Amino acid sequence: MKRIAVLTSGGDAPGMNAAIRSVVRTALHHGLSVFGVSRGYLGLMNGEIQEMDTRSVGDIVQRAGTILRSARSERFKTEEGQREALFQLEKFGIEGLVVIGGDGSFRGAKCLSDLGVPTIGIPASIDNDVACTDLAIGFDTATNTAVDAITKIRDTASSHGRVNVIEVMGRTTGFLALAAGLAGGAEHILIPEVEFDLDDICDKILSGYRRGKTHNIIVVAEGVGGYRDPGQGFGHSAGFEVGRTLQEKTGLETRVTVLGYIQRGGTPTAQDRILASRFGLRAVELLMAGRAARVVGITRGEIMDYDISYAVSQKKTINLDDYRLSEMLT
Ligand code: ADP
Ligand code: F6P
Repeated sequence: MKRIAVLTSGGDAPGMNAAIRSVVRTALHHGLSVFGVSRGYLGLMNGEIQEMDTRSVGDIVQRAGTILRSARSERFKTEEGQREALFQLEKFGIEGLVVIGGDGSFRGAKCLSDLGVPTIGIPASIDNDVACTDLAIGFDTATNTAVDAITKIRDTASSHGRVNVIEVMGRTTGFLALAAGLAGGAEHILIPEVEFDLDDICDKILSGYRRGKTHNIIVVAEGVGGYRDPGQGFGHSAGFEVGRTLQEKTGLETRVTVLGYIQRGGTPTAQDRILASRFGLRAVELLMAGRAARVVGITRGEIMDYDISYAVSQKKTINLDDYRLSEMLT
């Protein structure tokens, strides 16, 4: 293995740059040539590929987003699109590929592996919904961003005795909502994985109110109830639907805050930068060892790697103990 490439794909996540930097610099350290692919699979099909050196990744460890940019491509899901990508990889003499992204990006990586390109996936998603890893790059930063917002909203919620609904990201999963709600001391956390009864929540809010409780923080994952307008975000929102219902049923003044894209930006936390750096090294080592079709992950503090077909066939499950804990604590 002499020439490898790296790309970022799907929703960006804080710490992706730290992962790119690690892939590039550890590969250079081991004497490999490294190429950066712009705009994910879209750029790969178009041949948007440039050689990188150690300076190409200077001053980015602290920056969110991705210097390689990201994209989503329907065309790449077709065999034709994948053959175009393969053609470009062969044209540039690239023998191995590192894909930094989420679950969908790994499905794409598996397709390239099936076509004979040694491909390694590095999990990066603020949703943290990637199987075979306790943590994906970006989750810690996004959780801290959400907790910071909840903490600020609590201040004003107490002053006015209002119910405050806070919608966090998570199109199909509640990992971010659960972590942020638990750390932020939310009274209720609504996630797609756990059934809830709004009437019951209203009763609890009213009984707390009668006991003199000054605030009620309800954290809602955007994927709850299927309100989100996929790919647009202009239509319904789970947070507003829940807020409207709670206000109608309790009669208490209710405010809704949709945190949105601020959760995708912001300086990556030390944990995300370290995780990204460690993932990058393992991905390069796997390619150098002739391993293909793997995804890296962290399990109980240890960097691991797993078969990509296995990884994309698994569904990551929520920690129900944490959910129960959040209920006990409030
Ligand atoms: P994420 O990686 O954050 O989950 P997406 O689900 O949007 O983001 O996937 C990113 C890209 O990966 C898609 O735009 C598409 O190009 C590619 N991809 C997703 N699913 C598949 C699939 N089943 N087969 C091939 N490519 C896929
Ligand atoms: O990165 C994950 C995620 O933020 C989801 O929680 C959200 O639904 C989606 O990406 C929105 O991303 P986009 O608008 O880029 O499609």
